[in-house]
Amino acid sequence: MSINKKALEFYSTQSINNLDKESILEVLGSDYLSRGPKIQEFEDKLGKLCNNKYSVSLNSATSALQLAYQVNEIQKGDLVWTTPITFVATSNAALHFGANIDFIDIDPETLNICPNLLEAKLKKAKFDSALPDFLTVVHFGGSPCEMETIYDLSIEYGFKIIEDASHALGSSYKNKMIGENNFSLASVFSFHPVKMITTGEGGAILLNSEKDQEKVRSLRSHGIVSTKSLKMNKKPGWYYEQVDLGYNFRMSELQAALGSSQIERLKHFIKKRNTLAKYYKKHLSKLPFKFQKILKGCNSSYHLFTVELTDKNFARDELYKFLKVNKIGCQVHYIPVHLQPYYKRQGFSEGMFQNAENYFRNCLSLPLHQALEETDIQYVCDKLTDFFAKS
Ligand SMILES: Cc1ncc(COP(=O)(O)O)c(C=O)c1O
Repeated sequence: MSINKKALEFYSTQSINNLDKESILEVLGSDYLSRGPKIQEFEDKLGKLCNNKYSVSLNSATSALQLAYQVNEIQKGDLVWTTPITFVATSNAALHFGANIDFIDIDPETLNICPNLLEAKLKKAKFDSALPDFLTVVHFGGSPCEMETIYDLSIEYGFKIIEDASHALGSSYKNKMIGENNFSLASVFSFHPVKMITTGEGGAILLNSEKDQEKVRSLRSHGIVSTKSLKMNKKPGWYYEQVDLGYNFRMSELQAALGSSQIERLKHFIKKRNTLAKYYKKHLSKLPFKFQKILKGCNSSYHLFTVELTDKNFARDELYKFLKVNKIGCQVHYIPVHLQPYYKRQGFSEGMFQNAENYFRNCLSLPLHQALEETDIQYVCDKLTDFFAKS
């Protein structure tokens, strides 16, 4: 079997088939390009997947995060804790409401928020009367956080939990789907092309009540409610009221049609990603790499396959350059958020979250997506072997 060199240029990318194309074409020939039946169809499928009927589609996970905070009544000056190993959108969304951000360092094995460090920081915060209002967990790479322990801490210390599940569509925690919200008030998904399924750009939020679902539906559309939801049947059909300050965060029918078609293949995508990740682990076992630990009883979507260099004689950036020269896609996930210039201006500095910083210095995400086969992964493994042999 030949090597799929084109597909290897991407650390992750979309997989579009004829059914996806047909479903978009069907919408193009229909009466609705926006606010039509495909939105409901996609939301229903998402709800079914997550065992949670309160799903709302949006134009991005960033918008979904913003609405997760807003529907849970974030206030100016609230304190939001999250992980430094995430995309900046996780914490930025809270900053837009005038919240204050702080971080909990990661567990070097799971790469998710470390429950022990969380507990230690909570104890100190209680003593200092500075407990957080929100904790936003991120299931990094699709691997679920230790939700039971984090939930118990939320009861003891009284903070709200939001799940940034942008990487984790289809992941599960102890036989419960991520998005079921057993331990949180809201979960957020991303459908950016590098994610498990795509809608081009897009996102969704999974909530816990009809009331929250109605509120988010209104906020995604300027804070407007229709006569139907106002139960104002005596008003004429053209009537609407703006009751909140909202946004245009809507997904289009074209995007929803793509999502609806893609979600049918999610199981297959995740199976493929898991098979390829297993292949990597087996065939890289003799090289100086450490892999992310997946918690017992959990399934990862394997949005990312990250490796961490463990031999100090080799530099991550040399490996990055070597793979790029060989046209193998790779990326660093992530520069710790607290080291971004914007966050440094808020008072964060190097050395504050050392597990995250150590991981960042040595990490690289290797190609992992559904267009790849084991032969392609073997090619990457061979190139990696060459790198260590020649260096
Ligand atoms: C953890 C995390 N949160 C939020 C986002 C934002 O997602 P979107 O691009 O759909 O707004 C991303 C996107 O990469 C992400 O990785």
